Amino acid sequence: MPYLSPALNVMVSAARKAGRGLIRDFGELENLQVSMKGPGDFVSTADERTEKILYEELSRARPGYSFWGEEGGTREGPDRTHRFIVDPIDGTTNFLHGIPIFSISVALEREGQLQSAVVYNPVTDEMYVAEKGHGAYLNDKRLRVAARKSIKDTLIATGIPFMGRPGHERSLAEVRAIIATTTGVRRCGAASLDLAGVAAGRFDGFWERGLNAWDMAAGILLVREAGGMVSDADGGPRMLESGHILAANEVLHPQILKLLKGAVAGSES
Ligand code: IPD
Repeated sequence: MPYLSPALNVMVSAARKAGRGLIRDFGELENLQVSMKGPGDFVSTADERTEKILYEELSRARPGYSFWGEEGGTREGPDRTHRFIVDPIDGTTNFLHGIPIFSISVALEREGQLQSAVVYNPVTDEMYVAEKGHGAYLNDKRLRVAARKSIKDTLIATGIPFMGRPGHERSLAEVRAIIATTTGVRRCGAASLDLAGVAAGRFDGFWERGLNAWDMAAGILLVREAGGMVSDADGGPRMLESGHILAANEVLHPQILKLLKGAVAGSES
């Protein structure tokens, strides 16, 4: 059974409650998908409503903590040592298209360190949790990153910034280099679940450029607590600030990093 600190317990309950609303919204989408208006506005409303539920639940249980959400920005609390980092729907494009690969992602930072994490896919009812020093779990199962050591046997997840966004060309060059060297690459569309997939040993690694902190904060702790290594995509420690991330086991991490560095030559920086 996972160790749930009191704060992590609150985060799990908040994610479950918000998840029930999201499941209803996801069901509604099927009707909107085929309407002329399309589901765009509906999805923005679902995103905002989900964040509102998370904010209400988390701030009721921990009134002093700061809250940083994708939709509403930062709401400072008097307790400057604790901050929730929240993505109400990570994988919005998947959600919009009726693809059941999206999550509610909630991390808790204590004095700038990731302390607790929840990544919840309400459709599959997969609840990933981690508490610093107490391991990572998928529902009741303890997670370990994959043990593969040889890059040619690996399956690597990634995401690619939209065309015109910084890092787009570079990411394509990196995809080319990684595809040439591994079993394959997956682009699933929800960074938090990609990281959870690394923690669960489903993917051997994950890298992406141009992410926001709320896409990856919870997933980073999941990977670390499952015994994996996380850095930014250039090997540095400041993923949340740079938006670039690389996660894998400690043998593969330097191998993937080398491939990414090699791929940069000749492409946009
Ligand atoms: C997105 C997802 C996606 C990644 C994008 C993110 P959002 O988050 O994590 O996998 O490739 O860069 O923006 O916008 O759905 O919360």
